Amino acid sequence: AAGVLAACTSSNGLVLPTDPRVGQVEAQRRGTGRTRSITLTARAGPVDLGGPVVDTWTYDGTVPGPELRVTAGDVVEATLVNDLPADTSVHWHGLALRNDMDGTPHLTQAPITPGTTFTYRFTAPTPGTYWFHPHTGTQLDRGLYAPLVVEDPGEAADHDAEWVVVLDDWIDGTGTTPDRVFAELRRRGGHPVHGASSPLLGGDAGDVAHPHHLINGRVPTAPVTFAAKPGERVRIRLINAGSDTAYRVALGGHRLTVTHTDGFPVVPVGTDALLIGMGERYDVLVTLADGVFPLVALAEGKNATAFALVRTGGGDAPGPRVRPRELTGTIVGYPDLHSTDAVALPRKAPDVVHRLALTGGMMGYDWGINGRAGHLADPVRVREGQRVRIEFVNTTMMWHPMHIHGHTPQLGPTGPRKDTAIVLPGRTLGCDFTADNPGRWMIHCHNAYHAESGMATALGYD
Ligand code: C2O
Ligand code: CU
Repeated sequence: AAGVLAACTSSNGLVLPTDPRVGQVEAQRRGTGRTRSITLTARAGPVDLGGPVVDTWTYDGTVPGPELRVTAGDVVEATLVNDLPADTSVHWHGLALRNDMDGTPHLTQAPITPGTTFTYRFTAPTPGTYWFHPHTGTQLDRGLYAPLVVEDPGEAADHDAEWVVVLDDWIDGTGTTPDRVFAELRRRGGHPVHGASSPLLGGDAGDVAHPHHLINGRVPTAPVTFAAKPGERVRIRLINAGSDTAYRVALGGHRLTVTHTDGFPVVPVGTDALLIGMGERYDVLVTLADGVFPLVALAEGKNATAFALVRTGGGDAPGPRVRPRELTGTIVGYPDLHSTDAVALPRKAPDVVHRLALTGGMMGYDWGINGRAGHLADPVRVREGQRVRIEFVNTTMMWHPMHIHGHTPQLGPTGPRKDTAIVLPGRTLGCDFTADNPGRWMIHCHNAYHAESGMATALGYD
């Protein structure tokens, strides 16, 4: 029956305690009565990125992995088969799902050991654009990531087609692994080889690690082509799955209308380009002109681009190095974005404010929170029903895309709902949410190397 709890048991038999409230929250969710079952195999093997063939780790042999598309209220039953030579896990990024299915090893489940399987079973809570990846070291940087789209059963049809665009900064494909990149960053104190990285808006790894920038797993010289008819309205779901790169995204010859941030609707606003940090998602609508157009993601601070084509008519395709002028036009920012009434939090002062100082620097590569690294034992405490404000205070020289699991905070009294938000150097960003999803949840930087170095903590319910 609903409300009956499974203990959090992994295939290797380790049992973690489960809070009974986890099942109660899940039981209150309205379901569709449908179950969507999938099996994913995490495995090592070659992948063709459209020229470069890399030996890496994937879900089911492709990069990105297979898209998972469900309807809000569906029960998702996803079995992960671990054929990797290492422990792994699957985290459903952005979903406010039941805590014991969140896929964070040692916090919500035991690691999935090599040669074993684990079945995630949860009700998809809210519609939107999400993605999934391991929460084990920097494995996502090997190519273990895939889009997760939760459709809205009640949504009005306002577009003719839909495209999912996944951005990624690729490791070099000549045997470098994320672990070696991490070791190298530590050794060099975070400095890139070629000095292309901007200290403010670039990633740290620069050219050390990520010479390829991909859209849907393709290098710019062998781009994906999205086809449509002139005049058609397309919804583009943008996901930044990169580990170390923010992208500025534009579609040559077009303006974009932003409709959703991290899955949640905003009052539509027009823009030439978008800045999308690691882990962030934006949905945009665009009405297509007639021709062939470049969809370009400029790797901030790295002087490199990811590239795809949009074709609605005849004409020569632009080359892979084109930089459409929209890239230097207006860029929508968080202050320009406002939640729709349907998803805005009721106006209320926070019951509790937790200040988390982002600390550390490139020299020591000693990223942390409140001066401590990876500090899960003594988490941020909240009580069910509280209005909570997490205030990120960035004391560092770099920016950090901060991600909160299990909740989708709102930025400011009327701002957008976001589970991942960029905190600029020297700035403070308030993230407000209602504590309505009991359990133990990670809070961390979505630069995979910063998180691995220690910029992570946990949120716990009393
Ligand atoms: Cu996308 Cu805690 O991660
Ligand atoms: Cu960071």
